[in-house]
Amino acid sequence: MTQDIQSLKAEITDEVKAACDLKSLDDVRVSVLGKKGRITALMKTLGKMTPEERQTKGRDLNILKDEIADLIKHQESALKKQEMDARLASETQDITLSPRPEYMGHIHPISQTIEELTTIFAAMGFSVAEGPDIEDDYHNFTALNFPPGHPAREMQDTFFLPETQDEEGEYAKKLLRTHTSSVQIRHMENNKPPHKIICFGRTYRSDYDLTHTPMFHQMEALMIDKETNMGHLKGCIMDFVRAFFEIDDLPVRFRPSFFPFVEPGAEIDIGCSREDGGLKIGAGDDWLEIGGSGMVHPNVLKNCGLDPNEYQGFAFGMGIERMAMLKYGIPDLRTFFESDLRWLRHYGFNPLERPNSATGVKS
Ligand code: PHE
Repeated sequence: MTQDIQSLKAEITDEVKAACDLKSLDDVRVSVLGKKGRITALMKTLGKMTPEERQTKGRDLNILKDEIADLIKHQESALKKQEMDARLASETQDITLSPRPEYMGHIHPISQTIEELTTIFAAMGFSVAEGPDIEDDYHNFTALNFPPGHPAREMQDTFFLPETQDEEGEYAKKLLRTHTSSVQIRHMENNKPPHKIICFGRTYRSDYDLTHTPMFHQMEALMIDKETNMGHLKGCIMDFVRAFFEIDDLPVRFRPSFFPFVEPGAEIDIGCSREDGGLKIGAGDDWLEIGGSGMVHPNVLKNCGLDPNEYQGFAFGMGIERMAMLKYGIPDLRTFFESDLRWLRHYGFNPLERPNSATGVKS
């Protein structure tokens, strides 16, 4: 490398090292490698040289150019790091500021209740299944052994969608499911026994008063195996309601009842007392109905491809709002869906302090 290139290199190196921010570094880069930069200008002189001169000078200039470009790159990353360090040092955040509850969202009682129910059933070995809100007549009624003309099929009981043609060319109206029992069918159709599932979801009926809303939530449990019997049904429901209400000796009663898809069928009642107009869950001289249950009807098993002589089991279902109302003392069902923030602040759950199976409701 010739003397002049050596000294040019020293000069530029000093300049690069002296650049104390990205802007001045870029100024140096332009003054060296830019269109009118010093190295660029020297490159242009190569054309006027003899071939021998050009060979040595050209090589030296290219080496210089690469070295300087490298140097600039290094300086650039050093400056960037310096800048980032300075920002990190100056922009610290005080994460010790206490939370402001007035700005914190609340967990809706339905979500809270579903979570509690999931925890209880998961501990008993159930898994969660799902099904569509928009159902066909077959899964909501026919497969569940609803005889033709059963009142539950009447138009006013749910919401029907406009008539459409199905895959077989038949015209039919889809509907909003009236219960989560349709998920029993869908699950059995698509899975191999044994079955042990719970399902939570929205259900629909055309009702509206203090205790009925057109949309509400249900929970459904299904257990099918070779020897599952009524004793299992009773044990499972008793364990679950006692865990849910956190009352170890909560009385539970099974009252014979009719549902087309179970045989025998039973309504589930829990003990309560009604004094001075108030309702108290637990031992008392009164009963409160909380859901339906029964042994899955042989016709339902057959409809799902199971041999009733080989498989049997139970199902039960109940309203989730009702469970939440009873556990948390919420008087009016309609308020669940009014989206009133004051209601949610009152009945909702602080996400940081919500009850769970470890702390219990009374935490
Ligand atoms: N599907 C029934 C209802 O909505 C409840 C039920 C579920 C009853 C499972 C028996 C078995 O009323």
